[in-house]
Formats: sequence, C-alpha cells, structure tokens
Amino acid sequence: MSDDKTSNIWGGRFSEQTDAFVEEFTASVNFDQRMYKHDIAGSRAHARMLNKIGVLSDADLDAILSGLDTVEQEIENGGFNWSVAREDVHMNIESRLTELAGDAGKRLHTGRSRNDQVATDIRLYLRDNIEHIIALIKQLQNGLLDVAEREADSIMPGFTHLQVAQPVTFGHHMMAWYEMLARDASRFADCKARMNVSPLGAAALAGTSYPIDRAMTAAELGFDAPANNSLDAVSDRDFAIEFCAASAILLTHMSRMSEEMVLWSSAQFDFIELPDRYCTGSSIMPQKKNPDVPELVRGKTGRVNGHLVSLLTLMKSQPLAYNKDNQEDKEPLFDTIDTVLGCLRAFADMVPAIECKRDNMLRAAKQGFSTATDLADYLVRKGVAFRDAHEIVGKAVAYGIETGKDLSEMQLDELQQFSEDIGDDVFEVLALEGSVAARNHIGGTAPEQVRAAVKRARG
Ligand code: ARG
Repeated sequence: MSDDKTSNIWGGRFSEQTDAFVEEFTASVNFDQRMYKHDIAGSRAHARMLNKIGVLSDADLDAILSGLDTVEQEIENGGFNWSVAREDVHMNIESRLTELAGDAGKRLHTGRSRNDQVATDIRLYLRDNIEHIIALIKQLQNGLLDVAEREADSIMPGFTHLQVAQPVTFGHHMMAWYEMLARDASRFADCKARMNVSPLGAAALAGTSYPIDRAMTAAELGFDAPANNSLDAVSDRDFAIEFCAASAILLTHMSRMSEEMVLWSSAQFDFIELPDRYCTGSSIMPQKKNPDVPELVRGKTGRVNGHLVSLLTLMKSQPLAYNKDNQEDKEPLFDTIDTVLGCLRAFADMVPAIECKRDNMLRAAKQGFSTATDLADYLVRKGVAFRDAHEIVGKAVAYGIETGKDLSEMQLDELQQFSEDIGDDVFEVLALEGSVAARNHIGGTAPEQVRAAVKRARG
C-alpha cells in the first residue's frame, strides 16, 4: 500500500489536505479491493452506454476499455499500486485508468457516482458468491444422498430431549439434513433474485441529467432490470442483510449437524468415525482424535450471527439516501461469504466420508426401550384405548428397568403380566427392523421410504 500524497479527486473545493489519520480511517481500499473485477465490469458497461448515447466518443471508449483491461491485468499479476490516499477500489481504479487513458479516463465518471457504483459492485460480487454457495450446498446435498442410500437400512436410536425415543434409520437422519439444506439453497436463490436489479444510473441519489440507457447497462451486467427508485437503489443494503440472514440460518443448521457429529464420534456414542484428515490429535493425550472441523463450524456460527446483527444495526435509522455508514457493510458481508464458503467446502468433503458403526448404533437403539411406542400401537390395534396402552407399556418398561431387559428380550408370559391382549405376534413389533419398516409413509423412517426420498431428490 503506497501512501503517495496525490491531491484528492474532490480537491477543488478544499483548502487543506485531508488529515493523514482521517485518510486512513475513512479508506476502504484494504477490504473493498476484492470487488475489483465487478467494479471494472460495471465501468465497461457504463462506458459502452455513454458511447451509445453519444456522450463518449469512439476514441474515448476505446481508450477506456483498453485502459481497464490493463488495470485488470495489473491487479491480477500483483503489479497494481493500491493507495490508501485514493480511498477505495473505485477511485484507485479510476485514477490508474486516467494515468493510462488520459482525458478519456476522466470522462468515465460522467453521469455516475460512487454511490450507484458501489451499490452495483456489491450486488455483482454477492451474486457471484451466492452462485458459488448454492453450488457447494448442492454438492453437500449430493453427498448426503449417497450416505442416505448407503445407510437406508442402518438402524440407530432416534432422540427427543437427547433421550432415546424411537428407532430410526441413519439414512432417514441424513435426509433430514438434506431437507434443511434444500431450504437454505432456496433462501439464497430468493435473495439473489430480489437483489438482482441494477442501481447504475441512480448516480449520487437523484439520477442524472444525461439521457442514459439504464436498461442497457442492466442487461450487460446480467441484472433483471434497472432498480425502480434512485434513492432506494443507492441507499438500502437490505439484500446484504438478507444474505447474512440466509447465511446465519445455514450456519445454524450446520452447527446442529456439527453437534451431532461431535456427539456421535465420541467414545460414549461411538456411532460414526470421522475421516482422520478432518480431525486432529492432542499434544498431550496420545489417544485423542478431536472432531475439530465440526467444532469449528459450530463455533463459526457465532461470528456469522454477529455479522447479521452488525448489518441490521448499521442500517437502522439511516436516513435516505447514501451515508458513509454503508461503507461498514463490507467487512461483515465479506467475512460472512468467506466463512460460509469455508464451512461448506469442509462439509462437502467430510460428510460423505463419514463411516457408520452400524453394530454400535443398533446396540444403542436396543437400549432405552425405543420400541415402547410400537408396543402401545400394537395394543391399540388389539382394541385397547391409547391412554390405557400407554399406561400398560409404562409398567412393562418399569419392569424392564428393574430386570435389565429390553421389551424384545422378555418372554411372552412376562409381557402378558401387563396385558392379556399381548400375543406371540408381538415380537415382530418389538424388533427394531419391524419398528422402522412399519413407518412406511411419505416422510417416515422406513428404509423403503428413505430410498424413495433419495430417488425423488435425485430426480
Ligand atoms: N467506499 C464507499 C462505500 O463503500 C463508496 C461510496 C462512497 N461515496 C461517497 N459519497 N462517499 O460505500
């Protein structure tokens, strides 16, 4: 970063140089330079439009377009001299362009302001990243479909209150994660659709007196339409808030998945093995294999939630139209993007590599009387009222706790102490395989339904 003291772009009105600290304090170039490609794309579109309406000559347009190509190359090969004195990505690029293209460079900003420029750049930048995020979510979902198919018959305890509730299949559990992610992907797609309008032409806040063609720049930049209102277009950052909200919900989902992976990979559960390449050891305890990646994803949820609150607070009470406050939108937004991409990348690779310890899961499902509801349902089918059946099974469970036996391990006469309606067809119902297979309706845990859900998702 050079600190050359070139006089400011707005120097005309001022009688003293900007204070050196203020220059540093108000600059955003250290973080907004990552939007350089989108800034240059916006400038190309704007220049072509100015040429089409007769404001820029063909020669000026050529000089601008080839100057922008050079600027882009310089940035990409590391030869660009970013300067805090030029405040932000927009003025850095424009200044360099003017060095390269002379007066033509000075004409580029005709009918434009940094206010519509930055609003355009953020949207373009975010749009690209949303596409990337959706692609990674889809990749993770495809991995989940593979695991769900592989583990469609693998029985595990299903929990409520983290207490064994009813047997489910691991495949069914993976499909629950799949559904959560499907809603996340659609939230990002909605966010993208709503923000995909072009602020270009709003200029500082009121529009411009040049006969600009906003539809042309919008189309060239892949926007669906020009934004309807210039004041709104330059000032609102609701699309960034919406993106952070979608990200916070995604990370909340991923932290729940993380929590389950942490629990399941513990010695106490011992349901799964995480790939070694996603875990670390301890410097002191030789036996340890720590699930660092899920733990870190769980932890990163905090910062993404924080960024959402930052942006909400940033926007709150801002009068129309642009205020410098808005420069503070970028770091929370960029860190959210980086965090979401990193977490998704890790999960997309790690989750399909989870190994299930089927025997352990099955053994765990046999503890905790997970087929108690099945026994109650069985009694109802024999004509017992559900509340009475609930009471009967509760007594059988108490007996099981006392004698150390699961319901399926009791003899028929032991079970018949609690109800004469129990016959020897009860054992089918008490077997875990029978319990899961019986939940054979759309959205149920039966292996057949899991396979059908995977098929629907792939179709
Ligand atoms: N760096 C500024 C931002 O991020 C660009 C817009 C500045 N406009 C202005 N009038 N100061 O918001």
